[in-house]
Amino acid sequence: MFKVQGSRLGIVLLSAFGFLLLTSCGEKKKDAAETNAISSVKEQQYYVHGEQLYLKHCSNCHQASGTGLGLLYPPLAKSDFIDKNFESVICLMRHGINGELIVNGKSFNKEMPGIPSLTDLEIAEIATYLYNTWGHQRDSVELKEVSAILDRCAE
Ligand code: HEC
Repeated sequence: MFKVQGSRLGIVLLSAFGFLLLTSCGEKKKDAAETNAISSVKEQQYYVHGEQLYLKHCSNCHQASGTGLGLLYPPLAKSDFIDKNFESVICLMRHGINGELIVNGKSFNKEMPGIPSLTDLEIAEIATYLYNTWGHQRDSVELKEVSAILDRCAE
């Protein structure tokens, strides 16, 4: 009698302990998975909108594939300028840029008009697209980071 009760108690305790272990591990995993999913869904949305905005506002000069056009429009694909000048890239979308620019060793000198109607969010989305396509690699571009840069762009 006592023996049976003892082993029952043991089983109950063991399964309760096992259950606790299982649920606590399960929850930790779920939390991590959810955070990843949220940040990557947001990044994917930025990327998809960014591509649409790029095709609408930028591709007529820089081309859909980012190759640029001869010595008139510099390439964005594999551009070393883009890799080295994150802040300038953010600013030039809104304010334009002029003067000589060296991109991958070639000189360009033709004014790029700014697009003042682009919102901070749209600029962050285009930047997410630029920096995750054509051989550029950067972590996601945050809206608040972009707004802070836009606030200090030289006009
Ligand atoms: C009317 C044509 C035109 C449009 C539209 C245009 N650009 Fe440009 N872009 C230029 C020219 C020309 C330059 C070179 C400026 C210079 O020589 O000072 C340039 C330079 C750049 C550069 C720096 C050089 C490089 O190749 O890395 C980036 C980055 C850039 N543009 C991104 C964009 C993005 C993003 C958009 C859309 C939001 C855009 N441009 C729209 C013509 C254009």
